[in-house]
This record gives sequence, C-alpha cells and structure tokens, in this order.
Amino acid sequence: MSGVTLSVRVARKTVEAEGICSFELVSADGAPLPAFAAGSHVDVQLPGGLTRQYSLCNDPTETHRYLIAVLRDPSSRGGSAAMHEQVNEGDTLTIGAPKNHFALAHEAASHLLLAGGIGVTPLLCMAERLANAGAAFEMHYCTRSKSRTAFVPRIEASPFAERVQFHFDDGPAAQRLDIAALLAQAPAGRHLYVCGPKGFMDAVLGSARAQGWPEAQIHFEFFGAEPAAAGGGEAFEVMLASSGRVIPVPAGVSVVQALGQCGVAIATSCEQGVCGTCLTKVIDGVPDHRDLYLTPEEQAAGDQFLPCCSRAKSARLVLDL
Ligand code: FES
Repeated sequence: MSGVTLSVRVARKTVEAEGICSFELVSADGAPLPAFAAGSHVDVQLPGGLTRQYSLCNDPTETHRYLIAVLRDPSSRGGSAAMHEQVNEGDTLTIGAPKNHFALAHEAASHLLLAGGIGVTPLLCMAERLANAGAAFEMHYCTRSKSRTAFVPRIEASPFAERVQFHFDDGPAAQRLDIAALLAQAPAGRHLYVCGPKGFMDAVLGSARAQGWPEAQIHFEFFGAEPAAAGGGEAFEVMLASSGRVIPVPAGVSVVQALGQCGVAIATSCEQGVCGTCLTKVIDGVPDHRDLYLTPEEQAAGDQFLPCCSRAKSARLVLDL
C-alpha cells in the first residue's frame, strides 16, 4: 500500500444481507478521520498480506467513521473471505487514506445511479450526498433477491427513499429493470453512474454507448469484478524512454513485477486493473489492454496502459518512464 496510511479499529461488524457484512471503522486514536467525497474508496490491508479496495458507503459528511461493506465471493482470491472470517469487532486494521476515481459530476443537471449487488456501496454514498445537496437524482438497485440486498432498511428510512427503486432477479417480471428503456429516456445533461458485477456493468455501459450517451456523462467503477490476470501471455520487452534501458517481461510476469525486479518502481494499489494508480504513458508499441479502468476509446488510442495487468501485442513497448 503506497501513500498515507491510517490505523483504524473495527467498531462494528454487521450482517447486512446474505453473504454481505459491513464494517464500521473508527480512528484507532479517536481523532477525526480524513474527509472523503462520494465515490471514494480505501485500500484495506487484510490479514495474510492482501490489500483490497472497498468503497465508503456512509454519508460523506461524517468524519467519525468509515463504513465499508464486503460481499463474500466464493471465487475471490481470498480478500473477501479474510474480511468475513478473520476481521472482527475490536480488531485494528491499516487502511489507506480515501481516494476517489468515481467522483460525482456536480455540474450535471441530474444523476442516474445504477447499482448491481454490492456495487451499491459507492452509489449509496452518492445518494446521500445528492440528497443533502438537493440535487435531482434517481437510483435503481438490482440484486438477485431481497435476502441478498444490503442496506434495505437504511434506504427505506432515508429521506431519499422514494427516489430508489429495487429490482430483484427472482421477483415479478414487471419490477425488473429495463436498462435500454431507462437509458433511452435520458434528458439532456443527465449523468450516469454504474457499479456492480461485470455482467451488469457490460449491459449498462453497452446500452448507454449504443444509445449515444456521451462518454463524459458515463461514470463507472469496476470494484468487485474478477481480477484481471496479471501474468500469462507472451513474453515481450519494455524500453524506458528516459534511459533507453530495455527490460524483458517474461510470460507469467506483469510489467510492474518485471520493472520492480530491475529496481524501477511503479506505484500500484489494486494490482487488478481497476483503480488506475499505475497508469503509464505508452510512447511506442501496441498495448494489450486487460484492465477494467480505461474506456474503450482510451484503450483504442493506445497511448497509455495499466502495467499491473496489461501486456503488449507488439514485441516491445516504449514507456514514458
Ligand atoms: Fe490499480 Fe494498476 S494498480 S490499475
């Protein structure tokens, strides 16, 4: 974990829904926590040495606590299992200061928040912020079933309850979300925010782009997605533009790892292609994008890539390092 770290205590661990626990984190020394904006996440150092990113889902005016929620994902690489099984009330954790790669566009005329499953966490924080600001918004929250839906009592008791519609996969057909119809009705100046599992994200983003939503009005975050494979693929080499030094990247080794072994450190956070921390300019060569962070247009431009997970289609990449 790079940057500022904070020591926090787990003040409360709550089962929010089937397979989902929330963790209320307070400063270990009782001091106020750094302020955060809606859409922010924190890096959490887990027992066993893993670092994972979790969105803050409490009201962003609060400075006495951070609230995160974790879905236990049986296919995860151990992060969610460690949070569920090994982190308990009273434990101390090390976390990073909040970072925001999923900010609200405050200039928008209105906001459309689409949450899939545990992707509700940053969007709930946004809903709190927008409601406090008196902004125009509506939120749709899609889950497999009501029993797997976190924060239902909190949403139903909130001042913005009437702006949130729930959609359950196992419910009557009439209440399921018609994504294409919803996105077709978008008034000018509306901004779209989406977070959830990859299938949900692909459906929403694909529909928005097909219906001509401008990229600047589409905001998304892929936390909770399947991590990208950092290694694999063919061997290639990278050249550092500043020195001309050439470093081989073997199959099964990421660019970040290969450079790190040669003493060239690149700041990372998620190491899964979702956070954007390691974004690096590409001066020559063709990147093989494997991230979930860049837009399709940014990937197609080929002038930047995420070296924690992406590789090369050409034999060499020249990087602005
Ligand atoms: Fe997060 Fe590379 S470290 S995208």
